[in-house]
Amino acid sequence: MSRKMKNKVINNLRIERIAAEGKCVGHHEGKVVFVQNVAPGDLVDVRITRGKSSFMEGEAIKFHEYSKDRIEPFCSHFGTCGGCKWQHINYDLQKTYKWQQVVDQFERIAKVEIPEVLPILGSSETRYYRNKLDYTFSNNRWLTRNEIDSGEEFERNALGFHVPKMFDKIVDINHCYLQGGISNEVRNSLRDFALDEGLTFYDLKKQKGFLRNLIIRTTTTGESMVIVQFGENDASGIEKVMEFLNMKFPEITSLLYIINQKGNETFNDLNVHTFSGKDYIEEEMEGLKFRIGPKSFYQTNSKQAYELYKVARYFAELKGDEVVYDLYTGTGTIANFVAKQAKQVIGIEYVEAAIADAKLNSQVNGLENTLFYAGDMKDLLNDEFIADHAKPDVIITDPPRAGMHEDVVKMLLHLEAPKIVYVSCNPATQARDVALLSEKYIIDKIQPVDMFPQTFHVENVVRLTLKK
Ligand SMILES: C[S@@+](CC[C@H](N)C(=O)[O-])C[C@H]1O[C@@H](n2cnc3c(N)ncnc32)[C@H](O)[C@@H]1O
Repeated sequence: MSRKMKNKVINNLRIERIAAEGKCVGHHEGKVVFVQNVAPGDLVDVRITRGKSSFMEGEAIKFHEYSKDRIEPFCSHFGTCGGCKWQHINYDLQKTYKWQQVVDQFERIAKVEIPEVLPILGSSETRYYRNKLDYTFSNNRWLTRNEIDSGEEFERNALGFHVPKMFDKIVDINHCYLQGGISNEVRNSLRDFALDEGLTFYDLKKQKGFLRNLIIRTTTTGESMVIVQFGENDASGIEKVMEFLNMKFPEITSLLYIINQKGNETFNDLNVHTFSGKDYIEEEMEGLKFRIGPKSFYQTNSKQAYELYKVARYFAELKGDEVVYDLYTGTGTIANFVAKQAKQVIGIEYVEAAIADAKLNSQVNGLENTLFYAGDMKDLLNDEFIADHAKPDVIITDPPRAGMHEDVVKMLLHLEAPKIVYVSCNPATQARDVALLSEKYIIDKIQPVDMFPQTFHVENVVRLTLKK
């Protein structure tokens, strides 16, 4: 950016709308200005932090008028914690903006003929809708400006969430509106216990300390899994912490711990020890049981996941004689969910542990018409694989945020399945892939689904039908 632009202040910028990734947009001298943490309708002074020939980015430094659509955020951590950035916008408008994001991405990126985008499916719960939260212990609690200015001494140990873009600063959480059940009580009790006992909280810069991470997972069936990660292999300290949780929360059905002395908090490659209860929890959907192990992925809004899967199944229009491919199947949840309506379902996914769970879930539910394979999609889904299995009548694909690899899109074009149901958590990459698929497919249904109220994220399901 030119020096001239950096730190330049634009006065009285009217925020017009919300664009991709939740950024708000205004215009100044013909250029788009992206601003975070504002709402459409706000009138603000903006300090420019980044500028290119066609756009600028900035931060609001003074509000002259607040949008009439603003509401009071309900969480005391709003603004510091990066979790629920849209709490200042009412839920109906959040849904409108999410719907508009899908429309914009398809118009701007896909640039193909699309049907009317169906009204977004809202989440029945807009608070306490998550089934999994991941907290970090830190000896470097984030202090607010008021706290710093007060000159007082504050407790610096914290258990909470990372401040956006600051890997070593943690917002100490007193109440989180994202997860219900025992979640808030477990976190607060464990923090209080650790402070009383003088246990060390992790130093993220020096990579040392005893207490490192806390994961709480819950199900709609009332089960809960609590996983504590320790940065030191101190057997008596671990026993003390785990026994405290065990005694205080007998309702925990799976109490686990991990000794993690690596450079990061991921634990796919580490041993998970069971302190008490089972080593999995179980979710239920239409009478189907889904085992969720500590390393398994499961959609984080369980109730809305059911709505999402119903849309995918409805779009697939299964009659019972179809071969369905479920690409990026994870733990096989969609595959198992549609299995009773299909002749055969084949799920592919690259995490081997997830494929093991997918097979187990079929077994637990007595489903015998599923097959699961582990491997990278672009390598596994090839002519040889197709020759060894039946050709798909329906493909359901649910890739990660980056969308599908170009080779996978080419393979889908080559396969010519009559129907593709494309589920995505990133409409931008979905629109890009759909543009490529439009060589042989028409888009006949687009259904946005809100899985994450209070955030800008939107899930979207598209149905593509092979051109005659
Ligand atoms: C959005 S999740 C979908 C999970 C599943 N459909 C569900 O609803 O639970 C995407 C999945 O794609 C898998 N994945 C990512 N890249 C992959 C690749 N190159 N090949 C195969 N699977 C991949 C991830 O491990 C993850 O399980």
